[in-house]
Amino acid sequence: MPENRKILVTSALPYANGPIHLGHLVEYIQTDIWVRFQKMQGHDCTYVCADDAHGTPIMLRAQQESITPEALIARISQEHQADFKAFGIAFDNYHSTHSPENEAFVRDIYLKLRKNGHITQRTIKQAYDPVKEMFLPDRFIKGECPRCGAKDQYGDSCEACGATYSPTDLKNPVSALSGAKPIEKESEHYFFKLGDFESMLREWLNPDITQTRHVQSEAANKLNEWFDAGLQDWDISRDAPYFGFEIPDAPGKYFYVWLDAPVGYMASFKNYCVREGVNFDEYWRKDSQAELYHFIGKDILYFHALFWPAMLEGSGYRKPTAVFAHGFLTVNGQKMSKSRGTFITARTYLDHLNPEYLRYYYATKLNSSMEDIDLNLDDFTAKVNSDLIGKYINIASRASGFLHKYFQGRIGNTVLETVGGKIRDPSTGKITEHSADYRFEVLENTTRYASSIASLYEQRQYSLATRLIMELADDVNEWWNRWAPWELAKDFYNPLHPSNQEHLHRVCSEIVEAFRLLTLYIKPILPHLAVQVESFLNIQPLQWADAQQPLPTGHTINEYKHLITRIDPAQIEAMLEGSKESGQTN
Ligand code: 2FM
Ligand code: ZN
Repeated sequence: MPENRKILVTSALPYANGPIHLGHLVEYIQTDIWVRFQKMQGHDCTYVCADDAHGTPIMLRAQQESITPEALIARISQEHQADFKAFGIAFDNYHSTHSPENEAFVRDIYLKLRKNGHITQRTIKQAYDPVKEMFLPDRFIKGECPRCGAKDQYGDSCEACGATYSPTDLKNPVSALSGAKPIEKESEHYFFKLGDFESMLREWLNPDITQTRHVQSEAANKLNEWFDAGLQDWDISRDAPYFGFEIPDAPGKYFYVWLDAPVGYMASFKNYCVREGVNFDEYWRKDSQAELYHFIGKDILYFHALFWPAMLEGSGYRKPTAVFAHGFLTVNGQKMSKSRGTFITARTYLDHLNPEYLRYYYATKLNSSMEDIDLNLDDFTAKVNSDLIGKYINIASRASGFLHKYFQGRIGNTVLETVGGKIRDPSTGKITEHSADYRFEVLENTTRYASSIASLYEQRQYSLATRLIMELADDVNEWWNRWAPWELAKDFYNPLHPSNQEHLHRVCSEIVEAFRLLTLYIKPILPHLAVQVESFLNIQPLQWADAQQPLPTGHTINEYKHLITRIDPAQIEAMLEGSKESGQTN
């Protein structure tokens, strides 16, 4: 890898018809931690996102509210951006798929695909609502399950017996919009010939062992199953009325939302490039050396690891360096549920709890696999209170008290070398040599782990990274207790033990230095807390390379101010209650 990497990172674009919830946040927090880590490494890393603004549900929601889709998506975009900001998700740009940049790219890509022979047309039959005068997506048709007869089931699957089927199999189908019986109607559709890219996709998904993978191996295995079934043409058009972009030379036909959504990554980046004077082509041309990563949920792998690379290949752009898929979120071991109060929106969470708690907790659970992760609310409380506050934050308050009381907040000698002079072990009263001292080991270890922790972040092994950081915090606490500075302080003015002063200064200075290192390591996860610590330590924003730059002797730190509070279980209760209430009004 080059020393100074150019990296473009995206998270999936949230639909512009509903609030951000804790399920969404798994991905944005996972991505944001990765991006912040890359920036701390000094790489040129850009993180873009946008609202996914098109499609039937958004069009219908706007109708329900008697506003235009444009007004709806403008409002939702503001809400989404406020939520992301509160959770510390630091996009370099946030845009919309309903933008001139996106329309230009979508047309350009489509016309290139058409010119290269990858688009085909044919007439298909679909369910049509004769009252609403529109074609009905599967989820807008309801009826009785063909297997068990349960009433009021959606057009694709039965919630009672789990059967999956096509909407034409439903008994007594009705339109969920008007209640009318749908009729079958013909219409001409446009298709992307995914099969044209089969050999490219097979190779891309299953590179030989000398090359790096573009998707996780578990994802590749899943996608390989699709080849066995044969790659079908993909229907990329929808009939009016539809909120989206019209297809060139096809009046009344619109691009399906999933065609223009991933193109939104390019559009948001383009918007950023124009504003910041960055060269777009350097990132997207076929032979680009820049890295491109998409963080997504495992449910949308098909779109990102089959359609999207094929669209890019067919229109002459580069393909992603990698697509990173994560699993779903459960709360207390179950699917999020409005009646249990576990369908928790970002807003409701923020009404009750500090967003950095969630960032920390998710980090302790996240790794590079597609496994689901569970937010267990008791475990969440315990981890925040005992690890984050009990192990890490307390280090700061302890050491700085002594440093200010006896040394005007000034850092003493923490250089990692053997120092002469004798010291008195406070527990035994024994006078020992100062060299080959246990406490050097602690600080040396804490410094030495910088590169291990860095590679864990790079590989998205955040759960291992946080474990290592907390183990180091354990060591630091143990060392603090072993050297019992409060005992040294008792003897501070005792002329018989003048070395105690030097010793106390050293212990406190080293513990502050250890706290600085722990803060640096956890900064991608807790950026807001890190800023507070930087001001407490009176230092510039921490970069990864600063791990090797200890606080200089004589540096003065500020007085410790309270940084973060413990979670009171009553806050969790209140959040669940709040979610039940907002669930009812939604
Ligand atoms: O699944 C979703 O929520 C989509 N809105 C994600 C789109 S990601 C990208 F393709 F735009
Ligand atoms: Zn059924």
